[in-house]
Amino acid sequence: MVFSDNGSADTERSEMYKAQMHVNKYVLNFVSCMALKYATELGTAHAIHNHGKPITLSDLASLLNLHPSRIGVLRRFMRLLTHNQFFRKTENGEEEEEATYDLTLASKFLVRSNSFCLAPLVEVAFAPSVGNMWNSSKKLFTEDTELPLFESVTGESYWEFMNSDFELLNVFQKAMAADSEIIKLGLQECRHVFEGLGSLVDVGGGTGAVSKQIHEAFPHLKCTVFDQPQVVANLTTTQNLSFVGGDVFHSIPAADAVLLKWVLHDWNDELSIKILKKCREAICGKGKEEKVIIIDTVIDEAGDDRELTELKLEYDLVMLSLFNGKEREKKEWEKLIYQAGFTKCKFSPLFGFKSLIEVYP
Ligand SMILES: C[S@@+](CC[C@H](N)C(=O)[O-])C[C@H]1O[C@@H](n2cnc3c(N)ncnc32)[C@H](O)[C@@H]1O
Repeated sequence: MVFSDNGSADTERSEMYKAQMHVNKYVLNFVSCMALKYATELGTAHAIHNHGKPITLSDLASLLNLHPSRIGVLRRFMRLLTHNQFFRKTENGEEEEEATYDLTLASKFLVRSNSFCLAPLVEVAFAPSVGNMWNSSKKLFTEDTELPLFESVTGESYWEFMNSDFELLNVFQKAMAADSEIIKLGLQECRHVFEGLGSLVDVGGGTGAVSKQIHEAFPHLKCTVFDQPQVVANLTTTQNLSFVGGDVFHSIPAADAVLLKWVLHDWNDELSIKILKKCREAICGKGKEEKVIIIDTVIDEAGDDRELTELKLEYDLVMLSLFNGKEREKKEWEKLIYQAGFTKCKFSPLFGFKSLIEVYP
């Protein structure tokens, strides 16, 4: 097999080495994902955090209630996870038993007592129903249907499925709330976006994690979290922070501004335009036209580094499979926004991997 016509034999060997490594890496990438899943399920990061200092394997095994015969297995998982920068290992002598493991910044995101804990996101991503969906991915190519893959496999939309599994719904909302905690760092840089607003509706706002942060920063801003009735039922309304149940396709409470964080990527273009039109009605009904604030992913293959683009493209396939939704490039966002009747929009980067888009009637 000829891989290069003019390169030297050494260059050709080196390129072949890299190419076969590339294939091998992606063939086995799922093993690193599974190691993360099991470490999260076991509560490894949480146990090390509670221990309060670097921990030996035998102490870790005992905190995790593992049988002593499983220490060898734990050591091999920790070796991969340490290599993948989830833990830090310190050798304290010749003997393996003396080595200790500590958290890294990445595994601090798996400590359950932290408000920004991403462990629920790991649980949602690896839920058995989602695993079954991925195993049926072939349907995406072979079945001519409008149904999202998840619905075609389970017989229910992802939202219906979660509504009948309270535990999963709870974990999903925790995952969304943790993502919103991370957004907090971004909101500090874009205070101006919310300044001067008298009221805001957080559409598809889940249990209100983002609204709570906005409310803390702007106590006089009247925030309404609007989501499906079963999501906001039993959430306590306080002064200037209220919860309203409803359907985004029916009507949205009126306000100076509407926030759509991580909502439109759940929907195809047709339904996203419907949602944006409803948002337009909500902000225009008051006689004081303000704006829609979108926090979502913007694919930018030319501007982003490879790792960031890979994450956004992976999310795109997740959205496709779960909802027939999509991650969008800037020009796709603009098309959507103008088709919904808006006349102006402004894109700003936000801390993390999402962007902020201000949309004006
Ligand atoms: C991906 S989550 C984003 C949650 C929140 N904005 C965040 O980023 O933390 C999408 C939200 O849309 C809500 N949702 C889905 N369909 C809806 C509908 N028809 N009407 C209102 N909310 C809906 C879901 O319950 C969910 O909370």
